[in-house]
Amino acid sequence: MDEIFGKENFRNEIVLKRGYVPKGMTNQYITGTDYLMFYGKNKERIFFIGSKRKIKEEERQWISLDMPGQRKTYELQVRYFFGKPWLPPKGQHWGLSQEKINEYEKKGWIRINPNRTYIDTQGNIVKGMPEYLKEPELLLDTNWTDIKSYETHNTFFQTENSEILLKRVIEGVSNEGDLVMDFFLGSGTTTAVAHKLKRKWIGVEMGEHFRTVVLRRMKKVLYYDKSGISKEKDVKERYNEKTAGGFFKYQILEQYEDTLDNIELKENQKAQELFKNEYLLKYFLNFETRESPYLLNIEMLKNPFAYKLKVNLNEVGEPQEMVIDIPETFNYLLGLKVKKIKVRNNGRKYLFILGEKQGRNIAVVWRKYDDNWGEDDFKKDKEFIIKELEPWEPHIVYVNGQSVLTPQNWEIRYIEPEFKKLMEVLS
Ligand SMILES: C[S@@+](CC[C@H](N)C(=O)[O-])C[C@H]1O[C@@H](n2cnc3c(N)ncnc32)[C@H](O)[C@@H]1O
Repeated sequence: MDEIFGKENFRNEIVLKRGYVPKGMTNQYITGTDYLMFYGKNKERIFFIGSKRKIKEEERQWISLDMPGQRKTYELQVRYFFGKPWLPPKGQHWGLSQEKINEYEKKGWIRINPNRTYIDTQGNIVKGMPEYLKEPELLLDTNWTDIKSYETHNTFFQTENSEILLKRVIEGVSNEGDLVMDFFLGSGTTTAVAHKLKRKWIGVEMGEHFRTVVLRRMKKVLYYDKSGISKEKDVKERYNEKTAGGFFKYQILEQYEDTLDNIELKENQKAQELFKNEYLLKYFLNFETRESPYLLNIEMLKNPFAYKLKVNLNEVGEPQEMVIDIPETFNYLLGLKVKKIKVRNNGRKYLFILGEKQGRNIAVVWRKYDDNWGEDDFKKDKEFIIKELEPWEPHIVYVNGQSVLTPQNWEIRYIEPEFKKLMEVLS
């Protein structure tokens, strides 16, 4: 963490209560606590809307209501508690206005302490003394042992975080609509809680339990999951049977092994034998694999909707060919913030994407293109693209294959060279 965020961005070490007890007798104490490391990205202050916690009954502090300084008149001295007039002790006045007293009474924050007696302004000994509850919320410190940090039943991991812990974490450092990311999803508690708290989220998981645990859980959360923090009053207001819902996408990222499975050697098949040697592998790659899909086969972009790679989902056995979402990959490579997508048909399939980058509207056009197109095909293609894109008023238009598009007010760019350039930057 120090290496990634920088030592100077370390904020706190937070103490958690471990929720489970190991089986059997040991010669040690049971580990009762665990730690949460809190780092910032920089020194900027972040909002802490969740940085107060409700205090428990036994931690509540009752405070005397009388304060030094007697007021001049009876009217100024008197206050009504539970419908009866009370005068403060000699030399004192009541510290709250009548409105505050009424408000606090309704909340149950006022009580008469029968163990205290005092002498009122008339010189009478009075039994019982009004008190009020100090702010019922406390600023959060690093002791979080008041909540359970681990899930204790039906857990997938022994260290599965509780939803209530993630709620405190997420509310402390983000607002509704903010993005929450967890690179090691495990059972997916982070994304489940982020969704219930109306945050946006990204999760990453490499294990096979992505499908059986995380994906299933997130579908349930979108439908409505009544367990975990869904029972909390403040969550129910935001997340309930009526307000649940939303959408997410999930993607399988290309692995290094997939890349190796997709290397095609055209010019010197024998080089394959040399692959046992790592050094030669790298050495030969540039030259030998000019046409392999891993280096992006430009020919294949003529049909962008059928670009395939061999993918091995099971890590054993033979890889299968799967269609790759080339348009989406291009959006990511460009860093496009996608706003609209439309699929149209003009004798062939067209995909139009509108996005934004650095304040400029960028449109991307994908269609099945082939080398036999005649003048008419190009003309029809051009008219159709202009008709579909005009309302979007793009500044830049990317298009695959060839076209006779001439600038409207647009700057025309070709996808293939850009795609190749962006892929090379990555590799
Ligand atoms: C202990 S779990 C996290 C538990 C989680 N905090 C929870 O509350 O359920 C760690 C997870 O990280 C995953 N993981 C480990 N290395 C990874 C990597 N390089 N990329 C993606 N996931 C990874 C593991 O498969 C495991 O599911």
